[in-house]
Amino acid sequence: MISELNMDVLEYTKSQNQIDTAFCSTNSEVAVKNIDFFLSTENPYLAATHAICEKLEDLNKQFKWIQSRNFIHSILSRVKTADSIVNKLQRKGLELSLESARQNLKDIAGVRVNCLYPDDIYLISEWLLSQKGIKLIRISDYVKSPKPNGYRSLHLIITIPVFLSPKSEVVKVEIQIRTIAMDFWASHEHEIFYKRTNTKATSASSELKDCADTIADVEKRMQRLFNLPILSSRFYFL
Ligand code: GTP
Ligand code: MG
Repeated sequence: MISELNMDVLEYTKSQNQIDTAFCSTNSEVAVKNIDFFLSTENPYLAATHAICEKLEDLNKQFKWIQSRNFIHSILSRVKTADSIVNKLQRKGLELSLESARQNLKDIAGVRVNCLYPDDIYLISEWLLSQKGIKLIRISDYVKSPKPNGYRSLHLIITIPVFLSPKSEVVKVEIQIRTIAMDFWASHEHEIFYKRTNTKATSASSELKDCADTIADVEKRMQRLFNLPILSSRFYFL
């Protein structure tokens, strides 16, 4: 009798060797099928995003206990779909295969953390990077050095070990840490650029940059207000 696990192995072998030629007419279709099969059976990326989210929730609880406020406003996570992975491989001129995706793409697993104040971004990042097992691969600080279009966010590419019976593996995750104000701007910029025609987007770009500067200025004022001793002293009475 074939156990469920063995059936999976058989199906996986089939997906690698037979689906390729039997049902697909292009390289990209083959890659999408294989990646999709991998993500729906053995998904270390999903396990990695769960592990990061759990750590962040613990962090928020600890911070809340110490400072009586939520450092983290919201946490979002996603694993790229097979279609989106293959699109990205195509855009980058990389080989279209599961192995190539796993080797070359750093953002198959992604977590976004939104907080209130710019200073919190660095607290969250330092705390996360001090966690056992988490290793920093790359840091892009678009808060200190915003992109020319005005985009601000702190990006970390990290690795985290995940345990999927019967083995463990180290998985790359892209973590974006930003304030709700930075997220507000990025969400609008994304809509304006990706969902409209190029002409409209180009004419909007200098105004978008202007909005980014205004938002950054308002945010600095909010941070200053928060840092005022008279406001922070409220914690002494709690
Ligand atoms: P990719 O190959 O596109 O992942 O680029 P990269 O590895 O150089 O990463 P980068 O740090 O530039 O951007 C990674 C992610 O950050 C993107 O997939 C977006 O989610 C976000 N991002 C980066 N730049 C912008 C931007 O100008 N606007 C918005 N809305 N999001 C951005
Ligand atoms: Mg990305």
